[in-house]
Amino acid sequence: MFHCLYIKRIEKETSESVSIEFEVPKKFLNDFSFKAGQFLILKKFIRGEEIRRSYSLCSTPESGQFKVVVKQIPNGKFSTFANTELKPGDQIEIGLPRGNFFVQTDSNNTKSYTLIAAGSGITPVFSILKTILVEEPNSTISLFYGNKSPELTIFKEEIEQLKKKYPKKLSIHFIFSQHKGESRFHTGRLEGRKLKKLFKKIAPVDLTDEIFICGPQEMTSSIINLLENKFSFAPSNIHYELFTTNTIEKKSNQKKLKGSSTAAAILNGETIEFTIKKNESILEAGLAAGHDIPFSCQGGVCGVCKCMVGEGEVEMENNIALSFDEIEDGAVLSCQGKVLSPYIKITFDI
Ligand SMILES: Cc1cc2nc3c(=O)[nH]c(=O)nc-3n(C[C@H](O)[C@H](O)[C@H](O)COP(=O)(O)OP(=O)(O)OC[C@H]3O[C@@H](n4cnc5c(N)ncnc54)[C@H](O)[C@@H]3O)c2cc1C
Ligand code: FES
Repeated sequence: MFHCLYIKRIEKETSESVSIEFEVPKKFLNDFSFKAGQFLILKKFIRGEEIRRSYSLCSTPESGQFKVVVKQIPNGKFSTFANTELKPGDQIEIGLPRGNFFVQTDSNNTKSYTLIAAGSGITPVFSILKTILVEEPNSTISLFYGNKSPELTIFKEEIEQLKKKYPKKLSIHFIFSQHKGESRFHTGRLEGRKLKKLFKKIAPVDLTDEIFICGPQEMTSSIINLLENKFSFAPSNIHYELFTTNTIEKKSNQKKLKGSSTAAAILNGETIEFTIKKNESILEAGLAAGHDIPFSCQGGVCGVCKCMVGEGEVEMENNIALSFDEIEDGAVLSCQGKVLSPYIKITFDI
């Protein structure tokens, strides 16, 4: 479900990013309640084309603010529009908060958290960081935050202010790849090997109960690999969010279906039917038939288009969003789902 909201404020955060705050009317406040770390889907017609993109909330649930940061990607359709054309007072359609990358706080917790972010990956992590500081008085946090330079570091000042306010609870490590950092351990690209040295010399990770990571796929994979294989960290205590993937390897269908297939789907409580042509994804076919199937990235990353397969065979070309367990339970990303049987029965109402 989307609501049309006004943009309250836009501020330049760095030379290549802006924060955008939305005005959520009182009547929609319940719909927009969120957990620290979740994201919104922004929908806008730009030069006649409908564009949907996901953006993590950087504000905290208790702040009453609804704010995201958009980093400009070279030639990026939405991020360039947001950084150069969008202005306060404009209206934009926003999908309700969602996502599995969030922190569940409890004021009785005495936990040690490790938060790892790179570039715009700080947005959900910043919300998680502020939420833990306020809601868990006995927990501690170590933040490792990689950027090219101090000037391009989103929320640098705010994070330093938090460090001053919570000197015993929060330790921060800025790592710069194109600028000299605080030590040689703080200089270079943030990835598994760099973190291993930082953990060994400066911040022991074995004290950590939960880890939240948000950044490029390469960085995230190298860190998860390090945590699981070198530090024997339980996968269930490692939470991560990817914004994009740079290594999409499309699987070629082992079994190819000769003709088209028919899908019977449950969407918003109604049963719909549509035809899926050879080589079309479930999402493409459903949208072409005029059905309002939820989606955002169309790249297998955000998980918004997830459906459950009840009958029939579907193969995904690319999947970053779904866990092994979800796939075992029959979940499929409809934007990546190619149908291998003449008939499928699916539901989007999960
Ligand atoms: C769950 C989720 C949360 C997200 N939260 C944020 C957020 O808080 N802030 C934010 O700035 N972005 C966030 N993103 C990324 C965002 O949704 C868009 O993908 C990004 O802004 C680019 O959109 P675009 O239309 O400008 O680029 P497009 O026109 O879609 O893409 C242009 C080119 O850039 C590449 N590309 C896309 N995204 C990136 C990227 N992040 N880094 C490098 N190359 C990229 C594409 O592969 C393509 O080749 C999030 C994504 C997801 C899935
Ligand atoms: S639309 Fe993002 S995973 Fe399918």
